[in-house]
Amino acid sequence: LASSDGFARRSGEIYLDTAAEGLLPACAAEGAEAYLRDKSRGSPGRQAMFEEEGKAKAAAARLLGAAAEDVAFLPSASDALNLVAASLDWRPGDQVVSTDLEFPSGILAFLRLKDRGVRLEVVPSRGGTVSAAQICSAIGPATRVVMLSQVSYKTGTIMRELPEIAREAHRRGALLCVDATQAMGRTPVSMDGVDFLTASSYKWLLGTHGAGIACLGAGLLDRMRPAAAGWYSVDDLFGANRFTDFRPKAGAAQLAAGMPNFPAIYALRRSLEMLEAAGIPRIEQELAPLMAALRSGFCRLGLDVLTPAGADGDSGIVSFAHPEHQAIGAALEKRGIVVWRGDGRVRASVHLYNTVADVEALLQGLEAVMAEEAIVNCTKA
Ligand SMILES: Cc1ncc(COP(=O)(O)O)c(C=O)c1O
Repeated sequence: LASSDGFARRSGEIYLDTAAEGLLPACAAEGAEAYLRDKSRGSPGRQAMFEEEGKAKAAAARLLGAAAEDVAFLPSASDALNLVAASLDWRPGDQVVSTDLEFPSGILAFLRLKDRGVRLEVVPSRGGTVSAAQICSAIGPATRVVMLSQVSYKTGTIMRELPEIAREAHRRGALLCVDATQAMGRTPVSMDGVDFLTASSYKWLLGTHGAGIACLGAGLLDRMRPAAAGWYSVDDLFGANRFTDFRPKAGAAQLAAGMPNFPAIYALRRSLEMLEAAGIPRIEQELAPLMAALRSGFCRLGLDVLTPAGADGDSGIVSFAHPEHQAIGAALEKRGIVVWRGDGRVRASVHLYNTVADVEALLQGLEAVMAEEAIVNCTKA
């Protein structure tokens, strides 16, 4: 492992797969060690853990323009989506509106309510985008939730019209639920109009596995009843009425039934603060030329680019479709270039530790790989 730039990575490797796994900064690794030190103190170490959790909530809240009380740490983004979906009072005939750019967890959390009569309306993308107008026209009187990723895991498409969609959803009495896993830490994310937001810890936020940020918008708690309760989520833990009643903690704290994943939280707090110091708008701005080079390079190679050209900036993801995606990804890996491959696509993703040289290496590698006999033949077949 080399970590000359403060990120642990395999030396000599070109790493362009943050959309799957972010690299771990030294500060996050130190955070995990600090957890082990506090844990080794036994119960007296708990106070430090609770303080870390508070600081991590505050750091996450600052990136979202929210209050620390609105943030909870759940085991993963998928768990957070499932918890909110299970906590709403569904009626047969209720509808959830989403798109075909959505990550499977955002769909599954609601699809599993099918046996309770909840219908899923999937708005199809055109050329890698779904317009706000398409989504708004799918929202009807039965819509209870609009489920959208701010950045699509598949195409990197940025949904910029979330506030506009939120207004229409609210006008119809529906909630806007946002999966910001592929956005937070790389592109500015805001709770403006959002009722529930989640983001996973181990990609652009540069943390370890084991934490899903959950952030509640104003008024959401009045419209849901948390589907879980435990000692960590109630105020009157040892109250006289504890066998007959309970009082949930105020704010998002009522979502976490038991001890959260402290090791993940220690690491995440430091990564969040590092990203905040770097400045998300600055990261976005400085990486924009790399994204443009990547996209135009893919086009120049004649690849079927899935990522729409961004009118006012890009996400950290560019992907292309190819029948030989597995062979292409494997051949690149042999050359020491890591991208994601699967589901008919190759996806490259760029974060603050990437350079123009990484992008050039990928494009050169890709050019060579695409000319390899095996891939040319497979593509023709
Ligand atoms: C948009 C999106 N949401 C959620 C996840 C999964 O996050 P978690 O493992 O924390 O549930 C992914 C992983 O690729 C993703 O791309």
